[in-house]
Amino acid sequence: MRHPLVMGNWKLNGSIHMVHELIAALRKEVSGVAGCDVAIAPPAVYLCQARHEIGGSRIALGAQDTGVNLSGAFTGETSAEMLKNVDVKYVIIGHSERRTYHKESDEFIAQKFGVLKELGLTPVLCIGETEAENEAGKTQEVCARQIDAVLNAHGAAAFKDAVIAYEPIWAIGTGKSATPAQAQAVHKFIRDHIAKKDAAIAEQVIIQYGGSVNDKNAAELFGQPDIDGALVGGASLKADAFAVIVKAAAEAKAKK
Ligand code: PGA
Repeated sequence: MRHPLVMGNWKLNGSIHMVHELIAALRKEVSGVAGCDVAIAPPAVYLCQARHEIGGSRIALGAQDTGVNLSGAFTGETSAEMLKNVDVKYVIIGHSERRTYHKESDEFIAQKFGVLKELGLTPVLCIGETEAENEAGKTQEVCARQIDAVLNAHGAAAFKDAVIAYEPIWAIGTGKSATPAQAQAVHKFIRDHIAKKDAAIAEQVIIQYGGSVNDKNAAELFGQPDIDGALVGGASLKADAFAVIVKAAAEAKAKK
């Protein structure tokens, strides 16, 4: 039985004060919620502070990206080994904002996936189509290509204990979430695509939905059989909204 994961992607938001306040509020709001894993991914510069503020609570630490090299002359990079060193568990890779603004290729992202697995960190592999691709009926083709880059480089076994976040780009930060039925259809496609290589691996892989998830639409999304939690951007910056999403995932899990 899969355990849903609700993870906050804080993106380029935060300050020492904000990290302190938000984590203190989150700790209060989600401490009693069982049946759902919870993580936050603050900007890299605040990971050490967040680690301290999270303390022994049930909130796990995530990072928003990683470099592929472990150390050396790579100015400006943060390595997966450094993330591990500060107790990061989940690492987002392939977010559409990295793919778009930093021109990250499927192959480069697959390389990151391999580095994380090697170090025992959990990749949160973001995939998803643009609005134009969606309208052209290419959603499945795009998702398959993005998954295949990892399957081809590392095999289906690499998806053991890994996380995929299906994030249609047209739904990110737009307030226009995919409908539960739309998202479920793509999640099922992704699971079936991996199942062609290894059914057991496909059954256990966590597939989060991401894209304008909020306290109003979360419960219905999580009610879908193949939606295992969410990667939450905007709503993860508000403790009360994020807590409602976490509780919705826990309640949906109890009913599945
Ligand atoms: P959003 O972002 O919830 O603000 O749409 C989701 C994401 O980009 O991970």
